[in-house]
Amino acid sequence: MAPSISLSSLLALLALAFFSLSASALPHPRTASSPATLKLAVRINSYGTRNIVAADRARIQARQTGSSSSISVTNDVMLYTADIGVGNPPTYYTVLVDTGSSNTWIGANKAYEKTATSHDTGGIFCVAYGSGNVIGEEYTDTVTLNSDLVIDNQSIGIAFEYSGMNGLNGILGLGPVDLTLGTVSNTYQVATVTDNLYKQGTIGSEVLGVFFAPASSSDSSGELTFGGYNASKITGDVSYVPITSTSPASGYWGIDQSISYGSTLILDETAGIVDTGTTLIYIASDAFNKYQSATGGTLDEATDLLKISSDQYDQLSSLYFTIGGVTYELTPNAQIWPRSLNSAIGGTTDGIYLIVSSTGSSSGSGDDFTNGYCFLERFYSVFDTANSQLGFATTQYTYATTN
Ligand SMILES: *[C@@H]1O[C@H](CO)[C@@H](O)[C@H](O)[C@H]1NC(C)=O
Ligand SMILES: *[C@@H]1O[C@H](CO)[C@@H](O)[C@H](O)[C@H]1NC(C)=O
Repeated sequence: MAPSISLSSLLALLALAFFSLSASALPHPRTASSPATLKLAVRINSYGTRNIVAADRARIQARQTGSSSSISVTNDVMLYTADIGVGNPPTYYTVLVDTGSSNTWIGANKAYEKTATSHDTGGIFCVAYGSGNVIGEEYTDTVTLNSDLVIDNQSIGIAFEYSGMNGLNGILGLGPVDLTLGTVSNTYQVATVTDNLYKQGTIGSEVLGVFFAPASSSDSSGELTFGGYNASKITGDVSYVPITSTSPASGYWGIDQSISYGSTLILDETAGIVDTGTTLIYIASDAFNKYQSATGGTLDEATDLLKISSDQYDQLSSLYFTIGGVTYELTPNAQIWPRSLNSAIGGTTDGIYLIVSSTGSSSGSGDDFTNGYCFLERFYSVFDTANSQLGFATTQYTYATTN
């Protein structure tokens, strides 16, 4: 495991707020039509960005080479976690929120507390990471996301071997159910948490709304809304695009998108994915080379990110992501790493680092970009399983200069 600064000291250092979920142990009935929200906590690790880039790329490359169910999310500097309860009465576990994988599991760094609702299915689960894997025993148990979101008989993994969890207890898998194919020995596929919330009538539609505030803003919180999206969090309409038909992105929350830097097209419309488990924005190497020459950035050894001068920052153009005929503007400020967090990534205090990096492969792979957290903190996202589509909307942070 990589070394980390203790969370409390780092948060004190950075003056970031840490919100934890306070959930009632007593489920109460609710109507199926209204969406319910799970509050998230932002967690800041400090390993150096070379580690983020390496971990993010391992995740991308595992997808491109066709090994399914790839997850490699926990080495990142910034990640969103939720506290979920398992059992009755529930024990709470801090898990990574991941739309790029679909198995929910716990048992890392905190033992599973069995209760009368815990049933061993006899199955062995195994999920491959980009850089390791998790193996364990599959159980069914009551999973409490919060008092409005209680799932009976949820199939969950209990890890007995895992790597790279950096203090987290597991993963909340919010990807498509097909990513669970073949992950549990005695089962064809495993219904996800979202599937079961819908099947059990807890939510009226199988839709997940994701809101992340920029980590450097005073509001360093996020929320998952199950059964819809939180209209108070968006400043315009949600625009939808169908899941891409291009493999391998089509197996994930994949979309078709083109990217322009200013008025220059740098990536023709192609398939890639949207992923809460990736920190940065990754684009195919040919597009990245165009981005690098247009911005004048030089690859910084310490962080493995492009570094620009303040003059170059003043000249920076917006990046435009065109998705389903709608263009989303990533402003110059949204293209830089939050300067207040430079030291956390091994950068210099006054350095300006770009958050767009290369996937490491040229376009045409069927997985030519990853819109990670740095994109999702600027645009609200709606993962709509019911209609096989993804939606995006602007928020109060789309044009903010928090970085
Ligand atoms: C619990 O879920 C498993 C599959 O995960 C299923 O085989 C079983 O019938 C379910 N039990 C109940 C009581 O719903
Ligand atoms: C939706 O967002 C608003 C505005 O940020 C917030 O006050 C509210 O608590 C959120 N709704 C839920 C159900 O969490």
